[in-house]
Amino acid sequence: MAEDLSIAKGTKTEQYESLIPQIKGLLEGEDDLIANLANVTGALKEQFGWFWVGFYLVKGEQLVLAPFQGPVACTRISKGRGVCGTSWAKAETLIVPDVEKFPGHIACSSLSKSEIVVPLIKDGIVWGVLDVDSEYLDSFDNVDQSNLEKIVSLL
Ligand code: SME
Repeated sequence: MAEDLSIAKGTKTEQYESLIPQIKGLLEGEDDLIANLANVTGALKEQFGWFWVGFYLVKGEQLVLAPFQGPVACTRISKGRGVCGTSWAKAETLIVPDVEKFPGHIACSSLSKSEIVVPLIKDGIVWGVLDVDSEYLDSFDNVDQSNLEKIVSLL
Protein backbone atom coordinates (compact mmCIF):
# COMPACT_ATOMS: atom_id res chain seq x y z
CA MET A 1 0.00 0.00 0.00
CA ALA A 2 1.31 3.42 -0.91
CA GLU A 3 1.13 5.82 2.00
CA ASP A 4 1.21 8.96 -0.12
CA LEU A 5 -2.16 10.44 -0.81
CA SER A 6 -2.73 11.82 -4.26
CA ILE A 7 -4.54 15.13 -3.89
CA ALA A 8 -7.16 15.85 -6.54
CA LYS A 9 -8.22 19.22 -7.87
CA GLY A 10 -11.59 19.91 -9.50
CA THR A 11 -15.14 19.87 -8.23
CA LYS A 12 -15.97 18.56 -4.80
CA THR A 13 -17.49 15.45 -6.41
CA GLU A 14 -14.28 14.86 -8.36
CA GLN A 15 -12.25 15.27 -5.20
CA TYR A 16 -14.35 12.67 -3.39
CA GLU A 17 -14.16 10.36 -6.42
CA SER A 18 -10.39 10.46 -6.23
CA LEU A 19 -10.25 10.18 -2.45
CA ILE A 20 -12.68 7.32 -1.75
CA PRO A 21 -10.71 4.54 -3.54
CA GLN A 22 -7.58 5.77 -1.76
CA ILE A 23 -9.34 5.58 1.60
CA LYS A 24 -10.49 2.05 0.69
CA GLY A 25 -6.84 1.20 0.00
CA LEU A 26 -5.75 2.67 3.34
CA LEU A 27 -8.33 0.61 5.25
CA GLU A 28 -7.75 -2.64 3.38
CA GLY A 29 -5.85 -5.19 5.38
CA GLU A 30 -5.88 -3.15 8.60
CA ASP A 31 -8.37 -4.11 11.26
CA ASP A 32 -7.26 -1.76 14.02
CA LEU A 33 -10.05 0.75 14.51
CA ILE A 34 -7.94 3.61 15.87
CA ALA A 35 -5.41 3.27 13.06
CA ASN A 36 -8.22 3.37 10.50
CA LEU A 37 -10.03 6.32 12.10
CA ALA A 38 -6.72 8.18 12.25
CA ASN A 39 -5.99 7.61 8.56
CA VAL A 40 -9.50 8.67 7.51
CA THR A 41 -9.12 11.97 9.36
CA GLY A 42 -5.68 12.48 7.82
CA ALA A 43 -6.95 11.77 4.31
CA LEU A 44 -9.95 14.09 4.65
CA LYS A 45 -7.89 16.89 6.17
CA GLU A 46 -5.24 16.62 3.48
CA GLN A 47 -7.69 16.60 0.59
CA PHE A 48 -10.11 19.26 1.78
CA GLY A 49 -8.10 21.34 4.26
CA TRP A 50 -11.05 21.63 6.62
CA PHE A 51 -10.54 23.40 9.95
CA TRP A 52 -11.27 20.30 12.05
CA VAL A 53 -12.09 16.73 11.13
CA GLY A 54 -12.40 13.95 13.64
CA PHE A 55 -14.31 11.19 15.32
CA TYR A 56 -16.13 10.84 18.61
CA LEU A 57 -16.91 7.32 19.83
CA VAL A 58 -19.85 6.25 22.00
CA LYS A 59 -18.72 5.22 25.46
CA GLY A 60 -21.67 4.62 27.76
CA GLU A 61 -23.86 7.72 27.77
CA GLN A 62 -21.27 9.98 26.16
CA LEU A 63 -19.33 10.60 23.00
CA VAL A 64 -15.60 10.64 23.70
CA LEU A 65 -13.01 12.33 21.50
CA ALA A 66 -11.17 9.92 19.17
CA PRO A 67 -8.64 10.45 16.33
CA PHE A 68 -8.87 13.91 14.78
CA GLN A 69 -6.92 16.51 12.81
CA GLY A 70 -7.04 20.13 13.86
CA PRO A 71 -7.02 22.16 17.04
CA VAL A 72 -7.63 20.53 20.43
CA ALA A 73 -11.31 19.87 21.09
CA CYS A 74 -13.92 19.08 23.74
CA THR A 75 -13.39 15.53 25.00
CA ARG A 76 -16.91 14.50 26.07
CA ILE A 77 -20.37 15.21 24.65
CA SER A 78 -23.60 13.86 26.12
CA LYS A 79 -26.32 12.25 24.04
CA GLY A 80 -28.64 14.89 22.60
CA ARG A 81 -26.16 17.74 23.26
CA GLY A 82 -24.64 19.86 20.52
CA VAL A 83 -24.58 18.88 16.88
CA CYS A 84 -22.69 15.65 17.59
CA GLY A 85 -24.96 14.50 20.41
CA THR A 86 -28.04 15.35 18.34
CA SER A 87 -26.75 13.39 15.35
CA TRP A 88 -26.19 10.45 17.72
CA ALA A 89 -29.67 10.74 19.28
CA LYS A 90 -31.39 11.02 15.87
CA ALA A 91 -29.06 8.55 14.14
CA GLU A 92 -28.89 10.88 11.17
CA THR A 93 -26.50 13.20 9.38
CA LEU A 94 -26.83 16.87 10.34
CA ILE A 95 -25.66 19.74 8.15
CA VAL A 96 -25.37 23.05 10.02
CA PRO A 97 -24.75 26.00 7.65
CA ASP A 98 -24.31 28.46 10.54
CA VAL A 99 -23.38 27.01 13.92
CA GLU A 100 -24.58 30.13 15.74
CA LYS A 101 -28.11 29.30 14.59
CA PHE A 102 -28.01 25.73 15.93
CA PRO A 103 -29.53 25.74 19.43
CA GLY A 104 -27.12 24.10 21.86
CA HIS A 105 -24.17 24.03 19.47
CA ILE A 106 -20.99 23.25 21.43
CA ALA A 107 -18.27 25.69 20.40
CA CYS A 108 -14.98 23.85 20.83
CA SER A 109 -13.48 26.70 18.79
CA SER A 110 -14.93 30.13 18.08
CA LEU A 111 -13.40 29.87 14.58
CA SER A 112 -15.77 27.12 13.52
CA LYS A 113 -18.64 28.52 11.43
CA SER A 114 -20.36 25.55 9.80
CA GLU A 115 -20.39 21.85 10.47
CA ILE A 116 -21.48 18.42 9.26
CA VAL A 117 -21.85 15.41 11.56
CA VAL A 118 -22.30 11.89 10.18
CA PRO A 119 -23.24 9.04 12.51
CA LEU A 120 -21.39 5.72 12.41
CA ILE A 121 -24.10 3.05 12.50
CA LYS A 122 -23.83 -0.72 12.79
CA ASP A 123 -26.87 -3.00 13.08
CA GLY A 124 -29.02 0.07 13.70
CA ILE A 125 -26.87 1.26 16.63
CA VAL A 126 -24.82 4.47 16.54
CA TRP A 127 -21.28 3.71 17.74
CA GLY A 128 -19.70 7.08 16.98
CA VAL A 129 -19.83 10.15 14.77
CA LEU A 130 -17.61 11.83 12.20
CA ASP A 131 -17.54 15.59 12.80
CA VAL A 132 -16.22 18.10 10.28
CA ASP A 133 -15.95 21.80 11.01
CA SER A 134 -15.26 24.67 8.63
CA GLU A 135 -14.08 28.21 9.29
CA TYR A 136 -16.54 29.35 6.62
CA LEU A 137 -20.32 29.55 6.66
CA ASP A 138 -22.35 27.06 4.61
CA SER A 139 -19.44 24.80 3.65
CA PHE A 140 -21.33 21.49 3.50
CA ASP A 141 -24.09 20.16 1.29
CA ASN A 142 -25.63 16.87 0.14
CA VAL A 143 -22.49 16.04 -1.89
CA ASP A 144 -20.55 16.00 1.37
CA GLN A 145 -23.32 14.11 3.10
CA SER A 146 -23.53 11.27 0.56
CA ASN A 147 -19.75 10.95 0.21
CA LEU A 148 -18.94 11.15 3.90
CA GLU A 149 -21.70 8.57 4.57
CA LYS A 150 -20.01 6.35 1.97
CA ILE A 151 -16.63 6.83 3.68
CA VAL A 152 -17.90 5.98 7.17
CA SER A 153 -19.66 2.89 5.78
CA LEU A 154 -16.17 1.56 4.94
CA LEU A 155 -15.18 1.54 8.62
N1 SME B 1 -19.47 21.54 17.58
C1 SME B 1 -19.66 20.19 18.05
C2 SME B 1 -18.67 19.83 19.12
C3 SME B 1 -17.45 19.15 18.61
S1 SME B 1 -16.33 20.21 17.95
O1 SME B 1 -16.91 21.00 16.88
C4 SME B 1 -14.95 19.45 17.48
C5 SME B 1 -21.07 20.02 18.57
O2 SME B 1 -21.83 20.99 18.68
O3 SME B 1 -21.44 18.90 18.87
